[in-house]
Amino acid sequence: MNEDYPIIVNEDVLTEVFIPDRLFHREGQIRQIERCLKPALKNSPIENIFLLGVSGTGKTTVMKWILENYFKDISAYVNCWKSRTIYEVLKEVLLTLQLPIHGREPTAELIKKLEKRAKKKRIIICLDEVDRLKNIDLLYILARSNCGLILVSTSYHSLLHLTTRIRRSLSLSEIEFPAYRAEEISDILKERVEYALRPGTIDKSMIKMAALASIGDARVGIEILRKASKKAEANNLSKIGFKEVEGAIAEVNRLELLYPVQNLNEHQKEILKILGKKKSISSGQLYLEYKKLVSKPVVDRAYRKYMKKMVNLGLVKADGKGRWRTYKILM
Ligand SMILES: Nc1ncnc2c1ncn2[C@@H]1O[C@H](COP(=O)(O)OP(=O)(O)O)[C@@H](O)[C@H]1O
Ligand SMILES: [Mg+2]
Repeated sequence: MNEDYPIIVNEDVLTEVFIPDRLFHREGQIRQIERCLKPALKNSPIENIFLLGVSGTGKTTVMKWILENYFKDISAYVNCWKSRTIYEVLKEVLLTLQLPIHGREPTAELIKKLEKRAKKKRIIICLDEVDRLKNIDLLYILARSNCGLILVSTSYHSLLHLTTRIRRSLSLSEIEFPAYRAEEISDILKERVEYALRPGTIDKSMIKMAALASIGDARVGIEILRKASKKAEANNLSKIGFKEVEGAIAEVNRLELLYPVQNLNEHQKEILKILGKKKSISSGQLYLEYKKLVSKPVVDRAYRKYMKKMVNLGLVKADGKGRWRTYKILM
């Protein structure tokens, strides 16, 4: 046993660089995506796709995995956080398709190169985090160039700028990635534990606790595990205990890694915390508890607006109407 690292065997497994061989609980989505993309293998037009789901629901991982395994030579994956302008995206796509460019060509020439290539052989382009694009006109250009498109986003808003005409011509098949349930995250975490940690260094109950605290976001769950393992090692423990997991959860929450949560205001975050402790709570009761918790609560109308936003973000589920409405945290 390596005395210096009694717990972590392979930290990479607990970071974003690791690409899992097994994708849990996404069989349905994978099947749907493959069905839409399959025609490309026979050089026929694909069904364009819009992948929608909050952060940490496996969108990027699933998409990369499918493209890599089945469409490697005819696809390009672009992250629009990194390549935000039309020029940057086109450049990235052409380079991935191994078309030689020197990077000083005018945009029109890049478009021409792409069109030429797409005429010869069907191309699939995946634009991840599509809402980050500086100029949505890119979608017109790509659609016109005969490229099949996969757009990935955390919100519907990313497509609001598109005119009805282009939206119709893209005729996107929408595929949803719902937030994971706690048990589903547990499955993902268990596999990571197997590869990343020495056997017997964490109990099932601790994995479950990390899964519950992840609020549907696998990224958060993995980060909690990583931090808890580090803490245990730093304290020379031979096992990850409750205190380490608890500390990791607090840190991850403080860092506001929870992507949709980081867009919430302080009031919404407090409400979410209350919901996290309850199975299901009536709207009125939740408002009362929230008022008890904060020094300057918002009025009822604003509260209802906040709740609506959290429902739309997929963090909270609403059931029933008016006085009988109940809320539940989604996981
Ligand atoms: N179904 C899954 N099986 C295994 N690991 C997963 C699964 N879904 C997500 N992950 C892991 O969770 C993290 C976040 O996933 P990612 O695909 O980046 O989510 P998204 O793109 O929806 O924000 C990654 O480290 C990924 O490996
Ligand atoms: Mg992603």
